[in-house]
Amino acid sequence: MEQLERYRVMVEDYLKTHLSQKPAYGSLIEAMNYSLLAGGKRLRPVLTLAVCEMCDGRAEQVLPFACGVEMVHTYSLIHDDLPCMDDDDLRRGKPTSHKVFGEAMAVLAGDALLTGAFESLSQAELPPEQVVQAVQCLASCAGCAGMVGGQVLDMDGEGHALSRQELETLQSLKTGALIQAAAELGCIGAGGSQAQRQAVAHYAQCLGRAFQIQDDILDVVSTSEALGKPVGSDVANDKSTFVGLLGLEECRALVQQLTQEAVEALAMFPNRECLVTIAQQMAQRTH
Ligand code: IPE
Ligand code: IPE
Ligand code: MG
Ligand code: MG
Ligand code: MG
Repeated sequence: MEQLERYRVMVEDYLKTHLSQKPAYGSLIEAMNYSLLAGGKRLRPVLTLAVCEMCDGRAEQVLPFACGVEMVHTYSLIHDDLPCMDDDDLRRGKPTSHKVFGEAMAVLAGDALLTGAFESLSQAELPPEQVVQAVQCLASCAGCAGMVGGQVLDMDGEGHALSRQELETLQSLKTGALIQAAAELGCIGAGGSQAQRQAVAHYAQCLGRAFQIQDDILDVVSTSEALGKPVGSDVANDKSTFVGLLGLEECRALVQQLTQEAVEALAMFPNRECLVTIAQQMAQRTH
């Protein structure tokens, strides 16, 4: 879809130059860019831009929000791959950060991407109230009550079976929360109403849950060449996943069901086509 391609190009262009003015201490900037510019689907920043335009805003204005979310996401991947967490060697088709730069630099590159994300948010040329709302939203979705909290449940869950309810909570937090923030930031930047923000959050939570179940499916059925990351990582780490709990067929049906619910959540928006396409593409993705 042409519109989605335009959003992707905007994101890549912004990220490419974003760190170029920073002083380069040791290999820090190199390590940050190594992970940040290694591709990836760019789902989250594209969501921010697409939601903004669906809510009658201009995508250019929320680009610093969108790329801030991608920086938080990239930091989370670097830390997720560390030996003390999932201990994976491949990410976005390349050796993981700690394999190339060492563990200390991988931790620090993640730290600097996280703080840099909020610097990027603060650079948006939008009314201060909207910037503050965006900072609050991203901070709470990424932190102890959101993504990091979910990663804690994920680590604590290793080695024993979680119930469906526990797994839903875990996945809503570790993956859903950041996807929700990405979508909400688009609505905030567009100056959308409270009702619009709620609808967008509902869409994103369903999308996030479908996305993580699809991630669990691909960890079993795909190849590391297609994914750009190892397969079988969940089994190797004895993680509870939806595939383990429900089996592949039921998981596929659940992805369809959640995608349908995501699409229905957008009923109030006349210009929802892009967001509908994103949800459908993510449900069918093979990487
Ligand atoms: C991977 O996210 C981590 C999960 C939350 C499943 P993505 O699948 O969006 O990774 P990239 O950004 O495309 O590399
Ligand atoms: C990670 O979930 C979610 C994050 C917050 C990074 P996974 O551990 O399943 O992600 P992958 O499969 O390594 O990308
Ligand atoms: Mg993990
Ligand atoms: Mg992992
Ligand atoms: Mg996974």
